[in-house]
Amino acid sequence: MAEKTFYLTTPIYYPSDKLHIGHAYTTVAADALARFKRHQGYDVMFLTGTDEHGQKIERIAKEHGVTPIEYVDKIVAGIKELWKILDISYDDFIRTTEERHVKAVQTIFQRLYDRGDIYKAEYSGWYCVPCETFWTERQAGAEHICPDCGRPVELVKEESYFFRLSKYADRWLKFIEENPDFIQPPSRRNEMISFVKQGLEDLCVSRTTFDWGIPVPWDPKHVIYVWIDALSNYITALGYASADESKFHRYWPADLHLVGKEIVRFHTIIWPIMLMALDLPLPKKVFGHGWLVLEGGKMSKSKGNVVDPVLLVDKYGVDAIRYFLLREIPFGADGFYSEEALVKRINSDLANDLGNLLYRTLTMLEKYFGGRVPAPGPEEGPDADLKRVAQEAGANAEAAMDRLEISAALEAIWELVKRANKYIDEVAPWSLAREQKNERLATVMYNLAEVLRTVAVMLVPYLTRAPQAIWEQLGLAGSPAEVGWQAARQWGLLTPGTQTRRGAPLFPRIEVKKREEKSEVSEEVKAPTQEKISIEQFAQVELKVAEVLAAERVPKSKKLIRLEIALGEERRQIVAGIGKSYTPEELVGKKIVVVANLKPAKLMGYESNGMLLAASLPGEDEEEHISLLTVDRDIRSGARIR
Ligand code: MSP
Repeated sequence: MAEKTFYLTTPIYYPSDKLHIGHAYTTVAADALARFKRHQGYDVMFLTGTDEHGQKIERIAKEHGVTPIEYVDKIVAGIKELWKILDISYDDFIRTTEERHVKAVQTIFQRLYDRGDIYKAEYSGWYCVPCETFWTERQAGAEHICPDCGRPVELVKEESYFFRLSKYADRWLKFIEENPDFIQPPSRRNEMISFVKQGLEDLCVSRTTFDWGIPVPWDPKHVIYVWIDALSNYITALGYASADESKFHRYWPADLHLVGKEIVRFHTIIWPIMLMALDLPLPKKVFGHGWLVLEGGKMSKSKGNVVDPVLLVDKYGVDAIRYFLLREIPFGADGFYSEEALVKRINSDLANDLGNLLYRTLTMLEKYFGGRVPAPGPEEGPDADLKRVAQEAGANAEAAMDRLEISAALEAIWELVKRANKYIDEVAPWSLAREQKNERLATVMYNLAEVLRTVAVMLVPYLTRAPQAIWEQLGLAGSPAEVGWQAARQWGLLTPGTQTRRGAPLFPRIEVKKREEKSEVSEEVKAPTQEKISIEQFAQVELKVAEVLAAERVPKSKKLIRLEIALGEERRQIVAGIGKSYTPEELVGKKIVVVANLKPAKLMGYESNGMLLAASLPGEDEEEHISLLTVDRDIRSGARIR
């Protein structure tokens, strides 16, 4: 068994048959990291799974007329199938309904209780029956109405267990100070620190209003609620609190929890505090990645086939989808999904750059050397530069992966692919052949084949089919995975005399029908008429509170800012002409007012799904003095304005 271990996890997924291409991102990214570490010789433990309890599942199962377990069994089978289609190489898959998890969570809960870190108290909140949501006094407001649907809420008092988060706030802050790399990227770390500094409240960790959960061992009318159940999976899967803790001793603490940005808080605050209370070592790193967002707004399967990963793999192949996901989301930031962007990546990076390099090299080898890799002669011209770039590609890709910058690692590898294509144009092998400069031609062709061997080895973590195909076309035995990452860092391992076998093109180009570019819509708004409007007319305008999640300037525009906003659960993109009055930085976190049911419009190529409200006085410098409408009291995004 390898000496060095690496334990890495994805979040456990809610069982939903609506997993979309964005969901696939966390798992594909984790898979690339797992494969990279294996490639480097680590003994990797890569865990994923499903988070199956809760009231929502209980309700949906009932609607389907089946028991919750019958319902989740079916969905989980679908999720496993999806991971198979995406070539996810997980070592273990944990379901929170498995006995190994249930038993261990009960022991964890008991241990926390015995230490005095879990206590019973009364939970009181304002409950909206139709929305099944609890609200605080402040959220329900003086009129006690649901901020989501506007219907009256009821005061509910419920006996609950609470976990003493507050007790650990200082210890947490000290830990974060001493371990500056624990939360990645650093921007998320700052967010978490300010959150904890505002004061931590104890966490409600049990419920009596539904049954679909793990019962509190000594008080079974309570079920353990959400986070203690879910987060524990990272140790229950290793056999913590079971008869066989050998895996736990071997792999814990985790080297990396990879999670989407919206659940960083639970993983960096609740989870470490739970572990502190259990006297267990803390994970080494939590990385909160950005989202893949649709240009038109929130990603959901209801958007149709375009975001269904199964259909996309079927249409474009698993490597194309993996490549897109890994390349398109930059370190920690969000990336945009559109089928156009996907096809563009396939055509330019995969078909053009990589596919052509292989195709050109093998065709020329066939033509000039009967397909046999020739022995290289002395170095000349751009050879040294090609080898330098090859060396750098390996070093840079490795360094990028160590920083978890998967997209940058692929970029580094593509530096080499592109350099090799340029090399072909520079040295023009066809001229060398014409001039019968055979020794030089042999060197050139060797160098190109050697670049391809290196690239195949380097691509092992990211693509699951192409590296093997390149390997076989080069006529090599075995696989690029088994030679290990170091084989990419050495130049000259390809043995002259190897008989290549050109095969089908790796990535055929995808023909796209030219669509007419939609022109920019006019930004002018018609002047209001003098007529009065009825309340019904006004009611047609859906005004909502939105929270600004992210903002950035639209390239080449002085006034347009692209905002990513939350309307309750929904995510959207809007584009607003407020860039002369606001910087993107000051917009993030603001609760603003938007017209939510406006027809989408395209501004400088960016789709805007709604319009924010802002005040201005007509005049010459109007655009510099815009004032945004915000809400007076804190209220959840998505709240209706009327
Ligand atoms: N069950 C919780 C996690 C508990 S972990 C102890 C959960 N599940 S989830 O199914 O909603 O999300 C699973 C993962 O998918 C998360 O990392 C989430 O960030 C990710 N994504 C969901 N939509 C996404 C995009 N559009 N883009 C990128 N990742 C996305 O949260």
